[in-house]
Amino acid sequence: MDKFEIVGGQQLHGRIRLSGAKNSALPMLAACLLTSDECILGNVPDLSDVNFMLEILESLGAKVNREGDKVRIRSEELTPFGDYNLIRKMRGSICILGPLIGRLREARVSMPGGCVIGTRPIDLHLKGLRALGTRIDVESGYVNAKAINLRGKEIFLGGRSGPTVLGTINVMMAAVLAEGMTTIDCAACEPEVVDVAQFLVAMGAQIEGVGSPCLRISGVKKLRGVEYSVIPDRIEAATFALAAVVTDGEVVLEGCQTHHLSAVLDKMNEAGCEIIREPNGLMVRRGKVLQSVDITTQPHPGFPTDVQAQMMVLMILIPGLSIITERIFESRFMHVNELIRLGADISIEGPSAIVKGGKGLSGAPVMASDLRASAALVLAGLAARGTTEVSRVYHIDRGYEKIDEKLRSLGARIERVTG
Ligand code: EPZ
Repeated sequence: MDKFEIVGGQQLHGRIRLSGAKNSALPMLAACLLTSDECILGNVPDLSDVNFMLEILESLGAKVNREGDKVRIRSEELTPFGDYNLIRKMRGSICILGPLIGRLREARVSMPGGCVIGTRPIDLHLKGLRALGTRIDVESGYVNAKAINLRGKEIFLGGRSGPTVLGTINVMMAAVLAEGMTTIDCAACEPEVVDVAQFLVAMGAQIEGVGSPCLRISGVKKLRGVEYSVIPDRIEAATFALAAVVTDGEVVLEGCQTHHLSAVLDKMNEAGCEIIREPNGLMVRRGKVLQSVDITTQPHPGFPTDVQAQMMVLMILIPGLSIITERIFESRFMHVNELIRLGADISIEGPSAIVKGGKGLSGAPVMASDLRASAALVLAGLAARGTTEVSRVYHIDRGYEKIDEKLRSLGARIERVTG
């Protein structure tokens, strides 16, 4: 398993080009199953999760062809039966359920695994698909779905933590080929949901209220193939913005769509970071006086849970107390113990982490546990005195394209050790 060796203390300077958004590309690749025409997706990031999704689509009968960041997909002949072992390995693969039901009126996929950040239920996905007329039973680890016909319905899709991103996308992808009007209330509004909805509209779907908590979908008979480009990855943007600040550097994020990150930029401003909008991106650097801030993760447009761990690293470096409350997932503090190993002073009180900032960090061997926790450990290693070794970096390769190369191009001393 590969690990990163990071020698901290280098200020990051320069520009990076953001990659396409993982959380847009994954469901958008699945949405290509909704038509037998060829779809061409651009700005598709080279990530293990994306490559995995391409394998899953091929196992369903799709023809997949990748040329750099462009992916051509044509699914003329499809089977509704997903490969159990392939699908259960990646939670994001659950988003093939909606398109298979929309296109074939049938699907059999394995229940997605939970992961370290939480149980990751799919009850809301199934609630919405059942509301459209799909008979669904879950047995021996499979979700078996069959719909004689799909009829539009008024659906409330809110759960105990609010909207569901992939649940909204799954139900939307079935509803676009259902008969009649579907309303999804308490729909997720994340930019990635908007991106997939706009892709579906480009394919001929009729969706109103895109970006709002209420989607109105008027079903159509068929969708056509289109060429479309994935939005830049806002979580990668936030991660590199924080890398600039924790190393007291200055980085320009090319392609960053600032309106995708308002809550993060607002909190970084409040903490005293300097953020300057450029014609084609964002310049970020540490301000003169930094102050600790409190964070609570919320559904979009609130502070994204996928940036919680990375923001914690900044709070560790700023003198004072900050409280970081995780309201989306039940156990998304896996990074805390590893950050404490680097010298951080953090205590957990229920859904909150109390960070006593201001002490420096010193390098040590740490272990990655999930995608965003691992990114936080890299940021901490960049800011720490001495050398930090981050093991199990396959977690990072799931969601960050060539992160070590991009960081090296900004002056970081980070090496990938293959072992
Ligand atoms: C998406 O996961 C993202 N993944 C996650 O990013 C992101 O953290 C999450 O949305 C929240 O923004 C992808 O898009 C591939 P949810 P998703 O359904 O859709 C509960 C990353 O690091 N819930 O919005 O699976 C759930 O337990 C990943 O890139 C139900 O109760 O998340 C959670 O508490 C991590 N029932 C909350 O809703 C359901 O049926 C939000 O989950 C579904 C979800």
